[in-house]
Amino acid sequence: MKHLRILAPFLFLSLIRDQTANRDDLRPTCRRCDLHHSCNCSFGGFTHVPMVTDQALSLDLSFNNITMVTQDDLMGHSQLRALDLHGNGLAEIHPSAFDSLWSLEELDLSDNQLKFLNPKWFNKLEPLKHLNLINNPYSFLGSPSLFLGLSRLRRLMFGGPDLKELRREDLSGVTHLEELTVQANNLDRYDAGTFGDIWPLGHVTLSLHGPFLTNPALAAAMLNDVSYPETQLTLSDLRLAHNVSVQPFKDSINIIRYLSLHNVSLSDEACGFLLALLDGVPLRSLSLVGLTLTGEGRWVAANQTDLSSMDEFFASDVIILDILKFAMDSEIQYLVQHQKKLSIINSKLFLLSCYITKKMVNTLYLDVSDNLLTDLTLSYMLCDNDETLQELRVSALNLRNLPIEKMLSIYFPLGSLKVLDLSYNDLKEFVLTLPILRELHLSGNKFLRLPAGGPYHNLQTLMIQSNTLNTFSLSDLQSYRRLENLEAGHNKFVCSCGFVTFLRSQLTGSGDVKITDKHQTYVCDSPLYLQGEAVSHVSLSIIQCQPVLFVSVSCGVALLLGILVAGLLWRCHAFWFLKMTWAWLKATRSSQRRRRNRNTEESDPLLSFDAFVSYSEEDASWVENLLVPEMEEPSDSDSESPTSPLTLCLHKRDFLPGHWIMDNIMSAIERSRRTIFVLSENFVQSDWCRYELDFSHFWLFEAGGDAAILILLEPLSKDDVPKRFCKLRKLMSSTTYLEWPQDEERRPEFWRSLRNALRGDNEQEN
Ligand SMILES: *[C@@H]1O[C@H](CO)[C@@H](O)[C@H](O)[C@H]1NC(C)=O
Ligand SMILES: *[C@@H]1O[C@H](CO)[C@@H](O)[C@H](O)[C@H]1NC(C)=O
Ligand SMILES: *[C@@H]1O[C@H](CO)[C@@H](O)[C@H](O)[C@H]1NC(C)=O
Ligand SMILES: *[C@@H]1O[C@H](CO)[C@@H](O)[C@H](O)[C@H]1NC(C)=O
Ligand SMILES: *[C@@H]1O[C@H](CO)[C@@H](O)[C@H](O)[C@H]1NC(C)=O
Repeated sequence: MKHLRILAPFLFLSLIRDQTANRDDLRPTCRRCDLHHSCNCSFGGFTHVPMVTDQALSLDLSFNNITMVTQDDLMGHSQLRALDLHGNGLAEIHPSAFDSLWSLEELDLSDNQLKFLNPKWFNKLEPLKHLNLINNPYSFLGSPSLFLGLSRLRRLMFGGPDLKELRREDLSGVTHLEELTVQANNLDRYDAGTFGDIWPLGHVTLSLHGPFLTNPALAAAMLNDVSYPETQLTLSDLRLAHNVSVQPFKDSINIIRYLSLHNVSLSDEACGFLLALLDGVPLRSLSLVGLTLTGEGRWVAANQTDLSSMDEFFASDVIILDILKFAMDSEIQYLVQHQKKLSIINSKLFLLSCYITKKMVNTLYLDVSDNLLTDLTLSYMLCDNDETLQELRVSALNLRNLPIEKMLSIYFPLGSLKVLDLSYNDLKEFVLTLPILRELHLSGNKFLRLPAGGPYHNLQTLMIQSNTLNTFSLSDLQSYRRLENLEAGHNKFVCSCGFVTFLRSQLTGSGDVKITDKHQTYVCDSPLYLQGEAVSHVSLSIIQCQPVLFVSVSCGVALLLGILVAGLLWRCHAFWFLKMTWAWLKATRSSQRRRRNRNTEESDPLLSFDAFVSYSEEDASWVENLLVPEMEEPSDSDSESPTSPLTLCLHKRDFLPGHWIMDNIMSAIERSRRTIFVLSENFVQSDWCRYELDFSHFWLFEAGGDAAILILLEPLSKDDVPKRFCKLRKLMSSTTYLEWPQDEERRPEFWRSLRNALRGDNEQEN
C-alpha cells in the first residue's frame, strides 16, 4: 500500500511525460526531484533531455535513450553540480551544450556513442572536478587537449575499446589527480611522457590487456609514467602468460609501493617470472582481485623471493583452473612469512596447513573469510604456537558451534587477539577467554542471546547483527566493562515493554554504549501486531506494559470514584431528586391526561373540595380530631355568625383505593381549591408530604393563584426545613402562614383565620 502511494506520482508523471513527449516540442518533463534538488530521471525512457527545474543541483539522466544534447537542452541550469548521462546512446553533443553549466563539478558521459570528443564542450566548465568519458567509441582524444581549462579536475576517466592512440599533448592541462582511470585495452600508440606531467597522482587504474600481450614496450612506457612511491597502481584485464608479458613491470616495479591486479590471469611461467621480479623490491602492498591461476602451482624457480617489504597481501576471488593438478608446494611459505596483514578471501581455500601458518610469524591480521575451510581444516591451520596474531577474521566459513570453540581454545590460545571476526558462520554460543580482545564480530550467526561479557575485559566493539537475538538488557551490556559500540540490528526482537524502553533509551544515546548501526534495523519480530515495526517507533501503552498494575490501579480508581460519586449523590440527595423528577413527570402526564379528559367530558365537576390537606401521619390525630371537625362540622356556639361547612380532602378518607398514590394526590390537589400543609417536624421528614407540596406548587403555578395555606403545628423556622425542600422554604418565605397556638384562648381566632383563608378567593369569585 505504502509502495503504491510512493509509486503513484511516478506513474502519474510518466503519463504526463508520455503525453508531452508526443507533442511537437519533444521536450518531456521530469519532476523526480527530491527535497535536496537532486533529480533522478534515470531509467525514464527519455529520448530527449527532459525539462527539469532550474533549481536542480544534481541531474541523473543515466540509462535513457537520449541520443543528442542540443544547445538549449541544459540552458539555465547554472546551479547544476552533477550531470549523469551514463548509458544513453548519446552520439551528438552541441559544442555549447554545457555552456550554461557554470557550477558543474561532475560530468558523466560514459557508456555512450561519442565518436569524437569536442574540446569546446568543456570550455566553460572550469569548476569541473570529475569527468568520466569511459567506454565511448572514440579512437583518440583529439587536440588541442580536451582538458586545458579544467585546472580543478581531480578524477578523470577515459578510454574504451576503440581508443588507439594517446599523444603527448592529449593530457595537457591535467596536473594533479586523485584518480585516473584509463581503458586502453587496444591501444596502439602511446607517446612516452603523456601521463608524465600528472603529479601528484593518487590512484591509477589502467586496463591494458592488449599492450601487455602484444606491445610490452608501450605498456612499460605507460607504467613508467605513472609509477610513484605514493601512487596506488591498479592494472586490470591482464593476461600474463609467459616471460615476456611481465617485462613491462621490469623498471617500474622498483618504484611501485602499492600494486593491485584486477581480473588477471597468470600462468605458472609468468608467475615465476613475476615473483622473480618482486624479489627484494620495496613493494608494500600487493592485492590480487579476480586472479585466475592457469597453471599447476610450480613456481619453484622463484623459491628465493624476498618479500620482506610487503606488509600486506590481499587475495580475493582467486580461481585455480586446474585445481586437481595444482600443487602449491610448501614453497609458498616464503610468500607469507613477512606480511603483517594477510587476506585470502573467497578463494575456495579449503586447507592452510599448520606448516604454513607456523611460518606466518609476523602476521597480525589474518582473514580467511568466505572460503571452504571447515571446523576440521581450520583446526589444522591454527597451531598452538601463534602468539602474535592480533586480528583473526574467519567469516562465512560455515563454522558450527562447539568445534570452533574447542579448537580455538585447544590449538590456538589466541591470547594476543584484539579483533576476532566470526561473522556469518553457524555459531550459537561462544565462550573463549580473550582478555585483550577489542572487537568481536558475531553478525550472521545464530546467537539467541548476547555472550556473557565476563571473558572480554577489554571489548569495545561488538557486532552481532542478523542473529536470532530475542532481547538484551542493560545488565547484559554492563557485563562488558568497556563496551562502547554495539551493532545488533536485524535480529528477531521480542518487543516487550522492558526491552523497548531500554533499547529506546540506548538508541537516543543515553547509555554508555553507543548503538552504531542504523536505528531502523532494530525491528520487532513479535508480538504479532508489532511485527516489522521499528523499535524506535513502537509505543507501548501502560496497559500493555503493566497490565496487573494497570488493572488494579484502574479498578481502585474506579471503585474510589464510584464511592465518591455515590457519596456525593447521596449527599446531594440526587436519588431523591431523581425519584421526585420521575414521579413528577409521570404525574404531570397523567394530570394532563386527566385535564384533557375533563375538557372533553364537561360533566366532571372541576372542584369537589375546598381544600386538600397534606399532612404527615404523625400529625393525623390533630387533623382528624381538630381540623376536620372544626372545618366540616363547625359548632355554632363557637361563632356569632353561622359558618357553612367546608369540605376537606384527606388522603386516608377520600383517596380512591386501588389507584396509584401519586395519581390520587395529584387529582386530589387538582380537585381542591386550596391545599393546606400541616407543617411540623414530622411533615418535613415525610416524603409523601413532599410530593404533595411539589404538586401543589406545580398546581399553584399552573393555576396562577395563591392556593397553598401553611399551618405550622409547632414553631418551625425556615431554617429547620432541610435545604433540599427548597420549595417549601420558598413557600414559607413568600406565603404567610398560620401558627397553631398552644394557648387554647387563641384557637378560635386561628380557626377563623383559617376559614377566612379557605374562603377568601371563593367569595370574591362568587
Ligand atoms: C534512480 O532511479 C532508478 C530507477 O528509477 C533507481 O534504480 C536508482 O537507484 C535511483 N538512483 C538513486 C541514486 O536513487
Ligand atoms: C532505447 O531504444 C531502443 C531502441 O531504439 C530500445 O530497444 C530500448 O528499449 C530503449 N531503451 C529505453 C530505456 O527506452
Ligand atoms: C577480464 O579481462 C578479460 C581480458 O583479459 C576481458 O575480456 C574481460 O571482460 C574482463 N572481465 C571483466 C569482468 O572485466
Ligand atoms: C622467455 O622464454 C623464451 C621461451 O619461451 C626464452 O627463449 C627466453 O629466453 C625467455 N626470456 C627470459 C628473460 O628468460
Ligand atoms: C630453490 O630451488 C633451487 C633449485 O631450483 C634449490 O637449489 C634451492 O635449494 C631451493 N631453495 C629453497 C629454499 O628451497
